[in-house]
Amino acid sequence: MAQRLLHMENIQRHYETPAGVVKALDGVNFTIHEGERVILLGPSGSGKTTLLNCLSALDSPTGGSYTFQGVEVPRYASEKMTAFRRENIGYVFQFFNLLQDLTVLENILLIQELAGKKDPERAKELLKLVGLEAEVNRFPGEISGGQQQRVAIARSIAKRPTLLLGDELTGNLDTETSNKVMEALVSACQQENITSVFVTHDEGLVKYATRVIRIDSGKIVSDESTGNDEEA
Ligand SMILES: Nc1ncnc2c1ncn2[C@@H]1O[C@H](COP(=O)(O)OP(=O)(O)OP(=O)(O)O)[C@@H](O)[C@H]1O
Ligand SMILES: [Mg+2]
Repeated sequence: MAQRLLHMENIQRHYETPAGVVKALDGVNFTIHEGERVILLGPSGSGKTTLLNCLSALDSPTGGSYTFQGVEVPRYASEKMTAFRRENIGYVFQFFNLLQDLTVLENILLIQELAGKKDPERAKELLKLVGLEAEVNRFPGEISGGQQQRVAIARSIAKRPTLLLGDELTGNLDTETSNKVMEALVSACQQENITSVFVTHDEGLVKYATRVIRIDSGKIVSDESTGNDEEA
């Protein structure tokens, strides 16, 4: 059995609003082991982004326990939370956050540098993996939305994160490109033992996952293995 990577127990994320308390997460429990590829599905407003933000320590739960490699993840302490993210997390946002003044390649190199893992050869290799070898020296404003999304994906794995998180990461891609990118991601994750959690509305991505978690109104309503992990 693979090593336990992280554990959430009775995680709550409540928002106080003038209209009352919103329970964006309401008692979430799970354990994720190294090498799992999790797809998180759920209707709009069900808590998916909130859960990713808590997993990555971009946000802090208001209750419950979250441990990563056996250690409680820092909360309400932005410097410690940033250090945790820098060390462990790759994140592909719904809106890709590329730096507009840097070329495609420089966007990747910067992330490696911040993580202390500069490796230009690998950066180019990853861009090839997502089919962008011809665009390495262009600026984000000079490529399409789907191409920018692929840069963001290459960037997210460039520093070899322990945990890779994605929010609708293929949402801007056509089916063919989306399949190509997912295949590239799965093979990169397998080669480097990167664990992943991807939020999507696209049931078609389930074939790339080893596990599917469904969430509704801040609670997990199902959590099942897909049977795709025999090769692991
Ligand atoms: N800052 C906030 N203040 C109050 N309520 C919030 C805040 N952020 C999110 N929520 C509420 O928390 C719930 C979960 O939001 P979340 O963004 O996690 O949903 P989601 O599953 O990612 O939805 P989508 O698929 O539309 O992106 C929603 O009901 C949302 O309105
Ligand atoms: Mg969301």
